[in-house]
Amino acid sequence: MCGIVGYIGSKNAVPILIEGLKRLEYRGYDSAGVGLLVDQKPIVIKNKGKVSELEKRVGTNVYTAPVGIGHTRWATHGEPNETNAHPHTNTTGDLFLIHNGIIENFQSLRTSLQKQGYKFVSETDTEVIAHLIDSFLKKDIDLFKAVRLALSEIEGTYGLAIIYSKEPDRIIAARKGSPLVIGIGDHEHYIASDVSALLAYTKQVVYLEDGEVAEIRAEGFLAKTILDEDIIKEVTEISMTMEEIDKGGYETFMLKEIMEQPESIQNSLRGRLIPEEGTAKLGGIESELVHIARCKRAVFTACGTSWHAGLVGEYMFEQFLRIPTEVEYASEFRYRNPIIQPEDTILFISQSGETADTLAALKEAKRKGALCLGICNVVGSSIARESDSGVYIHAGPEIGVASTKAFTAQLTVLALITLAAARKRDMSLADGKAIVEEFLKIPEKVKTILSQRKQVEEIAEIFKDATNFLYLGRGYNFPVALEGALKLKEISYIHAEGYPAAEMKHGPIALVDENMPVVFIAPKDSTYDKIISNIQEVRARRGNIIAIASEDDDVIEKYANYVIRIPNTIRMLMPILTVIPLQLLAYYIAVKKGLNVDQPRNLAKSVTVE
Ligand code: F6R
Repeated sequence: MCGIVGYIGSKNAVPILIEGLKRLEYRGYDSAGVGLLVDQKPIVIKNKGKVSELEKRVGTNVYTAPVGIGHTRWATHGEPNETNAHPHTNTTGDLFLIHNGIIENFQSLRTSLQKQGYKFVSETDTEVIAHLIDSFLKKDIDLFKAVRLALSEIEGTYGLAIIYSKEPDRIIAARKGSPLVIGIGDHEHYIASDVSALLAYTKQVVYLEDGEVAEIRAEGFLAKTILDEDIIKEVTEISMTMEEIDKGGYETFMLKEIMEQPESIQNSLRGRLIPEEGTAKLGGIESELVHIARCKRAVFTACGTSWHAGLVGEYMFEQFLRIPTEVEYASEFRYRNPIIQPEDTILFISQSGETADTLAALKEAKRKGALCLGICNVVGSSIARESDSGVYIHAGPEIGVASTKAFTAQLTVLALITLAAARKRDMSLADGKAIVEEFLKIPEKVKTILSQRKQVEEIAEIFKDATNFLYLGRGYNFPVALEGALKLKEISYIHAEGYPAAEMKHGPIALVDENMPVVFIAPKDSTYDKIISNIQEVRARRGNIIAIASEDDDVIEKYANYVIRIPNTIRMLMPILTVIPLQLLAYYIAVKKGLNVDQPRNLAKSVTVE
């Protein structure tokens, strides 16, 4: 999704903007651009395609600019091309701006501005903002106020950065529904839509909230609401390090993130298990645990991979808390006027904490008075801040577009919440202790699975040219089947579907022939015998079976063409293990097809539009 970087100070903005945009590439984008003030003259350079192309066009030594803004665009209104790329300018070109988000009333604003004589060059919603601000500047209003007045007419979401060559000593930044952070340097300031673009320069940041506008100069900044009220902002110190966002010696971020799961799961667990009490301590929701344990209904709300984590959460809550639990796509939840009672607990799961549908669902649930808990990775993200309380998954920055370590960290945190709540209810000390004991072994078990990645790579070589895949699992492993299929689709562009294994007979079996690889998630649990029957049904139709099986399963080889072994654990924690081979399989298939696994086509890391 779109990215914003900005700089004002005594250094040259050009390399800072290019470097910052490169840091934001992981979000997914289709065009890039910069706007600079060089000797107070505006220069806008933009292109379709990559930041590396932009870098060539801008050149490293051509311009020296003490102030500038840069953008990566992920198209929403108008195709990805140079004209639609940001920055957008007013007609005279002395004002330029970049925008993340969507202006919902852009059509009516555009018509009204056209009536005033404004000519539009792009198809974007963003261009109206430039002309609208211009219409206030023409009335001799200063830039800061002109922006606030323009924003009061705008409906929709935005993270915005604006430069006006007649007031060259400032950048105006504004936020509503699209994150924006100010970085504080030594007699210099930065802005970005994501702290990873700032980390090389500063760790002191200020998060803008929805409805806030800031005037940023080299020496300081002033924040106000759109309605002109002064606001005092708090400075936050970021703890994320540069090494954490680098590839750490791996070829891709995705492989690095798959391989670091023993540590990321360990980080999710760190300080949260209390072995002697057979429970977990989760500071963020400690005072809500009794409500969670006794609530009448729980609802997990999320999108994509996070939604799959919610499905696993449903099995956990129903097994251990005996609470009726539902899982809703956030996009459906927000528009169906959901029935929400004060006794409900609604959990919002989001890696980025910025997913537009999940955030809107959260706001709707809050309006209706439910207890809203956030389960997020990105600290200080919108969902984390808007929730009544919550738990961070502490997976560390996830840069690869396809979610991997965030998923296993989400499952870890969901199991911790289940354990802590269950111990407030019916779970005995002995049962709690047994779960803690198993939990402590999980990172090592994940390591064991990762050590077999060569074998998964060999299987990937065999199936890299398949055009369809089926993923089947039961119980806790049904959501894992969905997640395995999603991973493969996302990065290899192979059509894949996940089903509960028994559902296969009700339709998908028609697809099975010698060209169809079928991945069975078949650990030894209470549904094992049933799964073996399903495997035999596929085998009878000459399907190619890849089984994810328990280390001590000595019969599976009789039925499956390929077997990937996983250690045993309790049912609740099994998905953390079974998903690992599926992540590796998708990864190696995509790599062998020569695809860009970190930035798959059409996808964005953080989906901040509906
Ligand atoms: C899948 C993936 C997406 C996200 C979804 C929700 O690999 O990355 O399906 O899971 O867009 O994103 P978050 O968790 O940031 O709300």
